[in-house]
Amino acid sequence: MKRLVDWVDERFPLTATWKQHLSEYYAPKNFNFWYFFGSLALLVLVNQIVTGIFLTMNYKPDANLAFASVEYIMRDVRWGWLIRYMHSTGASMFFIVVYLHMWRGLIYGSGRKPRELIWIFGMLIYVCLMAEAFMGYLLPWGQMSYWGAQVIISLFGALPYVGNALTTWIRGDFVVSDATLNRFFAFHVIAVPLILLCLVVAHLIALHEVGSNNPDGVDIKKHKDPKTGIPLDGIPFHPYYTVKDIVGVVVFLMVFSAVIFFAPGLHGFFLEPNNFIPANPMQTPPAIHPLWYFTPYYAILRAVPNKLMGVILMGCSIVVMFFLPWLDRSPARSIRYKGSIYKLALVVFLVSFFGLAYLGMQEPTPTITMFARIFTVGYFAFYLLMPLYTKMDKAKPVPERVTFHGQSAAGTHLSFEPVAERVAK
Ligand code: HEM
Repeated sequence: MKRLVDWVDERFPLTATWKQHLSEYYAPKNFNFWYFFGSLALLVLVNQIVTGIFLTMNYKPDANLAFASVEYIMRDVRWGWLIRYMHSTGASMFFIVVYLHMWRGLIYGSGRKPRELIWIFGMLIYVCLMAEAFMGYLLPWGQMSYWGAQVIISLFGALPYVGNALTTWIRGDFVVSDATLNRFFAFHVIAVPLILLCLVVAHLIALHEVGSNNPDGVDIKKHKDPKTGIPLDGIPFHPYYTVKDIVGVVVFLMVFSAVIFFAPGLHGFFLEPNNFIPANPMQTPPAIHPLWYFTPYYAILRAVPNKLMGVILMGCSIVVMFFLPWLDRSPARSIRYKGSIYKLALVVFLVSFFGLAYLGMQEPTPTITMFARIFTVGYFAFYLLMPLYTKMDKAKPVPERVTFHGQSAAGTHLSFEPVAERVAK
């Protein structure tokens, strides 16, 4: 085995890459629960790609055959139902995992200098993920697939001058049709996943260039062992965090399996009942709204009476997130050392986001619209006022080193420094 590895190493930096990114990548020793979601996002990405490949073997991207081919996968293809539910549940779980991953970034200031590019790549991943989910949802060619695409694509029609031409160009027809299904299939199966994969690689390269943040938001590279140059508060990613991540993976797979086997549609949240009816261009379903992960933005869109302004505001609600690393002016990165104004702002943001998500699923009434407007103001105020309130806020002093001290089962203190030194040797 060693001779084989040596042979490869002379021709390809296998061991060097393993060391650089795993066994000698020193991550802060104080990672907590919130640090599970990066590796889980990778797991779901792999799940989506693998199940997607198997679905493609039996799916037919043809307006006359698509719906029936999905039923064929569900009923006649061996294990087809499992592969399909793994993919459809995986889509929603992807958003749950990514939203929790982004939330971690928000509370620990992970995107702030020098990690701005990690955040930007993350945001580009998020936008691609939304495009991927939107186009994937058209493929089963059910009523919600059809009418959801119809509503969202027609939003481009609100743009002055180019609107009509642009919607026709996107659809490839005057209505959502076979041409639309074919191009969405091409984008969903190859173009967007390819971009997504490249972005994930860029995300991780940027992360390993500057090193991980941590729940204390302190820079572990400031205190290095003078002999080895290893951060005193760093531990090798492998085996310490690979082992820790297994715990996250096991718990995640339990939740994932519970959904797949007991409630694959999750009461209309993951798969909508209306989508089990074949697409009918002649009949609009009673209520059209997107799946849960898009509803906050959909609620913002509907909160504005003017269609064009609604589309612009919805676009702004995503664009504003790109600027997060520069909006936070607090001397502390982590919420642990931020003052109460920031914490209050976070509560306003959470309430607004969940409120919008709920309202986006409801039929618009004057009361719903009024609340949607209030939450839209809350959502934007969180971002746009951030430079002001983070400056006014009284941050606590940030410690020089991370505050976590490991404990053995016997309750004695564990020091990681000798471990780091030993591994380096
Ligand atoms: C396919 C989706 C994604 C994958 C596979 C992914 C993967 C990862 C991994 C493996 C890590 C390191 C482990 C960890 O810190 O948890 C990480 C860190 C990070 N990710 Fe992502 N990510 C994704 C999406 C996003 C998104 C949408 C954002 C935000 C817009 C984001 C922002 C960050 C930040 C700021 C860090 C550094 C965290 C820190 O050092 O504290 N990621 N990502």
